Amino acid sequence: MNSERMDNRTFVITGASSGMGAAMSRDFAKRGAKIAIFDLDAEKAGTVTDGIARDGGIARAYKVDVTNAAQIESATDKVEEDLGPITSWVNSAGISRMVPFLNTSEELLDLTVGVNLKGTFLCCQAAIRKMLSHGGGVILNICSLSGKKPSSWQTAYCASKFGVLGLTQAIAKEFADRNIRVNSICPGIVPTEMWDRLKYEYAKKRGLDPEEVLPYFEKSIPMHRLVDLQDIINAAVFLLTDNSSYLTGQSINLTGGEWMD
Ligand SMILES: NC(=O)c1ccc[n+]([C@@H]2O[C@H](COP(=O)([O-])OP(=O)(O)OC[C@H]3O[C@@H](n4cnc5c(N)ncnc54)[C@H](O)[C@@H]3O)[C@@H](O)[C@H]2O)c1
Repeated sequence: MNSERMDNRTFVITGASSGMGAAMSRDFAKRGAKIAIFDLDAEKAGTVTDGIARDGGIARAYKVDVTNAAQIESATDKVEEDLGPITSWVNSAGISRMVPFLNTSEELLDLTVGVNLKGTFLCCQAAIRKMLSHGGGVILNICSLSGKKPSSWQTAYCASKFGVLGLTQAIAKEFADRNIRVNSICPGIVPTEMWDRLKYEYAKKRGLDPEEVLPYFEKSIPMHRLVDLQDIINAAVFLLTDNSSYLTGQSINLTGGEWMD
């Protein structure tokens, strides 16, 4: 871990009861940030905040469905009462399924686009309303390699993540002169809980054993390894601090050399 501090900063991190969001929450709290977790799973979010508190950090969990604007708005107000002005926001809540295009139900399309794209959209609105009222801030959207590279059986997911990149760029342009920066990262495969189910779905697509799926990806990536949570943290810290003060509307590919555009 580098020594960059995040004192006097209040973060909202969505989807942080698990995976990348949880890892960023723990790391940023150690750097001095106050962390508000927005997640559907309040119990798991509480486990993350309890762990942060045991390590001497400050964190609160809020049960929020990121597809619900009213829940986001009221939790955002509560965060400012509890932890002070929101300076920083990470949108990590997301879902992913692998299903052939013609078998993708309208329900799965609505859920995927709802959480990944609409959820990011609504959370950026809530973040920016607060940030404008206290002089600026910084937002990071967790996009995906699937926001740039098409994958069969992931049409709803790709559509939602390509949308997140467009959204990130448009918001970045609109608020560039108001001291609000908005960037994204596009990771390849990060072995979080998301892959507990995806490995079965991908195994079906390729005719593999589920336990062969992650090693199969490792072989095909130029660096021959998957994305580590520390890779996510390193890129996030860069994009969320003044180290990247002239960057907005950008996306960093964390793909071990697999994708370069
Ligand atoms: N794991 C990967 O390989 C990978 C790669 C690229 C991008 N991503 C993206 O990174 C982000 C984080 O993924 P992860 O691997 O940490 O996943 P994860 O499944 O471990 O965590 C996702 C979190 O989102 C929460 N969530 C889901 N729907 C929600 C909703 N409606 N409201 C609030 N919270 C909700 C879940 O409860 C969970 O805590 C996602 O946006 C995902 O699409 C993941």
